[in-house]
Amino acid sequence: MDFVDLIENKKLGRPLSDEQITLFAQAAADPDSRDYQLAALLMAIRLNGMDARETASLTMAMAQTGDMLQPEVGGIPVDKHSTGGVGDTTTLVLVPLVAACGGKVIKMSGRGLGHTGGTMDKLESIPGFRVELPEETFIDIVRRVGCCVVGQSAHLVPADKRLYALRDVTSTVDSIPLIASSIMSKKLAGGAQGIVLDVKVGSGALMKTTQDCVALSKVMVDIGVRSGREVIAMITGMQEPLGSHIGNALEVKDAMNVLSGRTKGPLLEVSLLLGEQMLLLSHLAKDAEDARAQLLKALESGAGLAKFQEMIAAQGGDGRVCGDTSLLPQAAKVVQVESPRDGYIHSIDAQAIGNAAQMMGAGRRSKEDVIDLAVGIVMNKRIGDRVSKGESLAALHINTPDTVPAARQALLNAFTLGDTPVPKAPLLYARVTKDETEIYQ
Ligand code: URA
Repeated sequence: MDFVDLIENKKLGRPLSDEQITLFAQAAADPDSRDYQLAALLMAIRLNGMDARETASLTMAMAQTGDMLQPEVGGIPVDKHSTGGVGDTTTLVLVPLVAACGGKVIKMSGRGLGHTGGTMDKLESIPGFRVELPEETFIDIVRRVGCCVVGQSAHLVPADKRLYALRDVTSTVDSIPLIASSIMSKKLAGGAQGIVLDVKVGSGALMKTTQDCVALSKVMVDIGVRSGREVIAMITGMQEPLGSHIGNALEVKDAMNVLSGRTKGPLLEVSLLLGEQMLLLSHLAKDAEDARAQLLKALESGAGLAKFQEMIAAQGGDGRVCGDTSLLPQAAKVVQVESPRDGYIHSIDAQAIGNAAQMMGAGRRSKEDVIDLAVGIVMNKRIGDRVSKGESLAALHINTPDTVPAARQALLNAFTLGDTPVPKAPLLYARVTKDETEIYQ
């Protein structure tokens, strides 16, 4: 079989056979294959799509290009994945809460790129914390503690690393079969039996409409059905940053504020919504209401925070940060950004806020960039809030004063103020399971 035949088939809109798809995935993992042929096929897929069988076949073939974990963790291994957002630190809240309720959370995370943050970078702001652990240690910690969060090993889905990089430079990122196979191949290889997907919608998300998110979710849930895993997708809002803190150490602090009961609000609410689904997939709750009650009990009793401390210690970190967030890296200076007028917050462009934090050193422009773990933004207002002229909209936590003017301007540009009250931004838009699709917004 010649690779040109694959490109020709897809160019003409014909479905690829499972054998052809395996050839594609193997070529993607083979450093000697040609970028230009892979890129041509990616564009043909972007333009002509793939059906459900082809997409699931591509996902499984990609997963099989590297290690496939089959962890024995003393329960149902569950995982959660977010399509990426700003101030989106639900992992650090829900992983310990679910583990405190008896769940076994096996979580592989990524680094931040562009305007979105990455859990690995956030956790590395905890002194001593190790995100790179041998597979046996990772699984042992999940078995003993109930949760462990590590970076994805280099041996997992090599095909995705190559295809993801090529998609980035060939304008083929926005293809549902390519996004679904990229995300789900990593989840299948990671070994979870139950997978909760947090598909973000809004200004700071990959997908801007509920309709597109539902379409992507249906494809990913179907891949789960075809590969023997249980998948639930929750479509949640990214109309504005989810938590109030944006930046690596700042987001760890935000998660600790939530786990210690100091902060309520959208970050807690979305963490509970996702955590409920994880407990359901773990077969530890009879329904969502029961799951929520268990999670709230773990929160209110302090069991969730204690579990986070246990996980940090198991991963080599200084667990004292759970009680004393001043042990996290701190920026040298805090500068307030004040409202230019009275009014109501009508919108906050989450991507622009993420870009401002990146500009200050909290995020990377390219994979090689070194980030500053201490810097970032603390938002003081949300959509729907009333604000007076001169009141703080947000605080910039800075180490390099020369980044302030541009970050301040970017932040001000991200806010739209009006004279009339507007409702708060919704958090839950839709839920997709193998049996039903519920649309709320
Ligand atoms: N996240 C992934 O891992 N892959 C994509 O294609 C998009 C988001």
